[in-house]
Amino acid sequence: MAQELLATVRRMLTRVRVKTTHRGTEVTEHSRSTSVLGVSVPQCVVISLVCCALVAAFELPGLQAAPDTPVAQSSGPVTDLSLPTVPDLNPDPRVLEINLTAEVARVEVSPGRRVDAWTYNGMLPGPLIRLTVGDRLIVHFTNKLPSPTTVHWHGLRLPIQMDGVPGASQPQVEAGGTFTYDFVVPDAGLYWYHPHVMSAAQVGFGLYGAFLVDDPSETFKVADERVLVLSDIDLTEQGALEDPETGGSTGMAFGREGNTLLVNGRNHPRVSMRSGVTQRWRVVNAAKSRFFNLDPGVGIRFTKIGDDGGHQEYSEELESLVLAPGERADVFYTPTAKPGTEYGVHAYLFDRGFGSVEARQSEDLFSIVMADTPAVTPQPHPRVTRAIEAISQTGATPVAIEFGIDQKEDKSFYYTINGKPLADIPPLKAAVGETQIWKVTNTTPWSHPIHLHGFFFQVLDKDGKPRRPLKWKDTVSVPLKDSVTLVVRFDDRPGSWMYHCHVLDHAEGGLMSAVQLSRPGEPAPPLPSEHTHPASP
Ligand code: C2O
Ligand code: CU
Ligand code: CU
Repeated sequence: MAQELLATVRRMLTRVRVKTTHRGTEVTEHSRSTSVLGVSVPQCVVISLVCCALVAAFELPGLQAAPDTPVAQSSGPVTDLSLPTVPDLNPDPRVLEINLTAEVARVEVSPGRRVDAWTYNGMLPGPLIRLTVGDRLIVHFTNKLPSPTTVHWHGLRLPIQMDGVPGASQPQVEAGGTFTYDFVVPDAGLYWYHPHVMSAAQVGFGLYGAFLVDDPSETFKVADERVLVLSDIDLTEQGALEDPETGGSTGMAFGREGNTLLVNGRNHPRVSMRSGVTQRWRVVNAAKSRFFNLDPGVGIRFTKIGDDGGHQEYSEELESLVLAPGERADVFYTPTAKPGTEYGVHAYLFDRGFGSVEARQSEDLFSIVMADTPAVTPQPHPRVTRAIEAISQTGATPVAIEFGIDQKEDKSFYYTINGKPLADIPPLKAAVGETQIWKVTNTTPWSHPIHLHGFFFQVLDKDGKPRRPLKWKDTVSVPLKDSVTLVVRFDDRPGSWMYHCHVLDHAEGGLMSAVQLSRPGEPAPPLPSEHTHPASP
C-alpha cells in the first residue's frame, strides 16, 4: 500500500514536471490533509505518503526549489484563439444542422508539438456550436473512435432522449455507429458537449467542445468577444496520450490531472489584445479534474456577469476567477498594459484537496500580447443585470446526499454516496413539479463539483437563503469536508437524470447516480445502464 502510494506520487510528480515550491501555505496543507485523511487511511500510510511526496520531489532530477514566479512563456506565433464553427447544412436560419464526427486526429498543441488526440471533427477542442436561443439543432453524429461513445450536452435543459446517457437516453453509439441529436435550445448561455461513456478517459483524451447560445435581447455590445475552453491533457514524454488509469485507485481518488495546460487546444498560446479595449470572455472548464484559478493581472479585475445558465442577477468584481470542472463564467476583462508589451494570465494552483497544491508550481495559462496600436481610455464595463426569481422553497422535499470515500479489503479506494458503492446506490426519486432541497455533504479530503443533468438549480447559503447574486447553476463545487445546499425544481421532463461529481475519475469511482423523475401514475423511467460507468475501456 505504502509502496503503491509512493510510486503514484512519484509518478505524478515526474509526469507533471513540476518544480518544488515550499511556501508556508503548502506546508500547512500537508498537516491539514493528514488529519482529514486519517479517518479512512492508516495514519502511518498518510504520513509516509506525505513524506515520500516531499522526498520524491527532492530526489527527482531537474527539480529545484523555485520562487513563486510564473513559468516562462514559450514564444510562439500570436494567435486570435478563435474556435472554428461547423458548416450549416440547413437553409432555415432557425435551424443549425451539422455533421459531428468523433475521431482520432493529430492536433498541434504548441508549435511543432503534435498529439494523436480524440477529437470532434479533427479539432481540439471540438468545433464551436453557436446558435440563438430558440433555434433547433440537428447533429448527425458519427463515431469513428475505437470505442463506444455518446454526446452529452452539458447544462442544456433538453428532453431526456437527447441527454446522451446510455440506458436513460439512448443506446451507446458503437464504434462505426451513428446517432442523430435533434433539439431546440431553450436557454441562452455558454454550455459544452462531451461524451458520457468512459468519460474520464474520453474527455481526458480531448473530446469536448463549447456550445454557445446567443441572446438576441442583450443590449450591450463588446467589440472583442472570445470563447475560452480551458482544459489539460496528459501526455507521456514521447508525446502520446497517457494511460487514463495511471496510479490505480489512488489516482482515481485524487482525480488525475493532465500535465499540459490547454486553452482552446493550445499550450501557452500568445494572444493579441488592444490596450484599454474591453474583452468579453465566455469561459468553460472542460478539464476532467483540474480546477482553474485565473489571475487577471496586477490592478485588473474580472467583472463577472454570467454563470452556468446565462446572465446572473448582477455582476461581481473578482480578483480571481475560480472554475471547477464543468463550470462556466461570462466575464468582462480590460487589459491596460502598454502597447507592445506582453504578460501572462496566471493559473494559480487551487486547493481542491490532498495532492493538488503540494510540491507543484503554477504556470501561466496564456500570454497577452498588447497590440501596437495606441491605447484607448478604458470605458466602464457595461452594467448587466437580469431579473431572476428565487425558487420557492414552500413544500420542498429535503434530500440528503453524502459523498464519502472508503477502502476495500485490498486497500484500494472507492467513493460512496450515502455509504453505498457505485453498484448499490439507489436512484433518487422525484415527481414532475416537485421542488427538492439537496444538502450535499462531503466527508472526503477532496472537493467534488456536483453536476445535475437537465436542470438548473440555485445554491443556498448556510442559513437557507439563496446565494446572491442569484444564478442558474448546473455544477457547483462541494469543498472538501464541507457541504453545499441547493434547491431545484423538476419540470415536466420525466426521465432518469444523472447527477455526479465532474471530476470524472470520481464519478467513475462512485460519485455518480441519477434522479428518476416521473409523472404521477406513470411508470418510472429506465435508469442509466452500466455502460455509463465502466471502470476501464
Ligand atoms: Cu458534463 Cu454528466 O456531465
Ligand atoms: Cu451534464
Ligand atoms: Cu469529486
